[in-house]
Formats: sequence, structure tokens, C-alpha cells
Amino acid sequence: MSDIELSRAGRVQIIRFNRPEKKNAITRAMYQVMADAINGAGTDEDIGAVLLLGQPEVFTSGNDLKDFMAVATGAEHGEEVGHYLLAIATSRKPLVAAVDGLAVGVGCTTLLHCDLVYASPRAWLQTPFVDLGLVPEAASSLLGPRLLGYQRAFELLVLGERWTAEQALQAGLVNAIVEPQDLEAQALQMANRLAEKPPEALALSRGLLRGDRNDAVERLAQEGELFKQRLKSDEARNAFMAFMQKKSG
Ligand code: COA
Repeated sequence: MSDIELSRAGRVQIIRFNRPEKKNAITRAMYQVMADAINGAGTDEDIGAVLLLGQPEVFTSGNDLKDFMAVATGAEHGEEVGHYLLAIATSRKPLVAAVDGLAVGVGCTTLLHCDLVYASPRAWLQTPFVDLGLVPEAASSLLGPRLLGYQRAFELLVLGERWTAEQALQAGLVNAIVEPQDLEAQALQMANRLAEKPPEALALSRGLLRGDRNDAVERLAQEGELFKQRLKSDEARNAFMAFMQKKSG
């Protein structure tokens, strides 16, 4: 079984995290599969929307910390994360997400790029960037304040506060809270509704609401530079080591 499961439901491209034994932590290979699927959907007339799904109680725990540790200790960074972030920031098709359980790091900031987000009551969101010695990514430093307001974005992205589904709903990051057993069906139904709309009108309307993507793309580059530097910082290395030691101890 692949760590990212790709499937189709009618005109909806489904991308499912499928690495539950590691809380769906995202490896470089997984980023690339997702980037290719989102970019592929963009040029496929048979696909009207993309749906991101996880596993019961686990959307994703974010970037694989072993991959971060590898970079911190000298490995090359690789381009896969960047490909994924660019794909979600510039996706030509609407993105819909269903979040059950934990959504950490990029699992949370990805939601800022989604057009519709559904969460179960047991969903929780957290971005421990600063505690890991890192900085916000995925253009969240731009889109977060824009969507959530400055103080709420700061609470989520810098303070690293853990938000419940209810808090995310109040903040406008989630459209609706849906019981776990109905969550995927609801998200799929909404993705299908989007996918059945006249594609040109949908694309134009979405473009109007989302506005110019260049600012997000520029912010991705700016954050990405800092992020790469921070991965090699003592603060980050120590935080990654603490996580590994906790897990092996
Ligand atoms: N990268 C790599 N491995 C991860 C991971 C991640 N982001 N998140 C979880 N895992 C692994 C754990 O190491 C563990 O592996 P093991 O069974 O081989 O020891 C397994 O997944 C289960 O995780 P565990 O920590 O035991 O589950 P939990 O329910 O106690 O805690 C989390 C879940 C998500 C709170 C916790 O795993 C965590 O904090 N992960 C790191 C999240 C993070 O900082 N992401 C990066 C953000 S930039």
C-alpha cells in the first residue's frame, strides 16, 4: 500500500494520507505524489475538484521529523516540499479537505489553501513551528493573518496554540463540524457539487475570490529560504533530537 492513496470518485480526485503507523507524517516522496496529483488534476478536464482525506483520528502530523533531522544534519533539502506547496498555492481546481483528529504543521497550514474544510468534533490543529526552532510555512504567514485576523493567526502560527475544531470553526478556517462517521461523505458530497459546476465559471469565480496568487508564491519563496536556514539551526536540531529521544526512550 502506498503512503498516499490516489483514487477517483466521479469528477473528484481523492488524495488520502495513508501512513497511519506514523500518524501520516509526510515524507519527501509523499509530497511529490501529492504535488503531481494536484498538478495533474489542474490540467485534467475530467477532474473538477480535489479532496484531501486522512485516516480515522489522523489527518496528518505534518512533515516527517526524520526528514527534517536529516537536513539538520547535512542531507540536501530536496525540492518535493516546495513542489507540493506550490501545487496547493496555485491549484487550478478547488481543494476540499476533511479533517478528523490531528492536523499538525503543514497538515494545518494546507487548510489555508483549501476552498472548503470540514472537520470532525475530535479534530485538532496545531503548528509548533517556533517550538521546533522553525518559522511558519506554506504562505501561512500571509494567508493566516488575512483569513483569521492578525491576533488569531499569531496565536495559531507563532504561539503554537492547539485549536479545537470548534475554535477553527469560529476562526473561519473550517466550514462545518461533522460527526466522524459522516465526515468523508459530507466532504465528498461538497467536492462533487463543486465538480459538477460549469468548469469555466467555477475557475473564474474561484480566481476572483482567491485573488492574485503571486503574493502567496512570493511568500512561499521568502518563508522557504528562512525555513531552510532554520532547519540547520541549533534550536531546530535540539528540538528534533528531543522528539527522537522521546520516541526511542
Ligand atoms: N514525523 C515523524 N514521525 C512521526 C511524526 C512526524 N511528524 N509524528 C508522529 N510520528 C511517529 C512517531 O515517531 C511514532 O513512531 P514510532 O511508533 O516508530 O515511535 C508514531 O508516529 C506514533 O506517534 P506518537 O508520537 O507515538 O503518537 P501520539 O498520539 O502520542 O502523538 C503527535 C501524536 C502528532 C502529537 C506526536 O507524534 C507529534 O508531536 N509528532 C510531531 C508533530 C510535528 O512536530 N510535526 C512537524 C510540524 S512542523
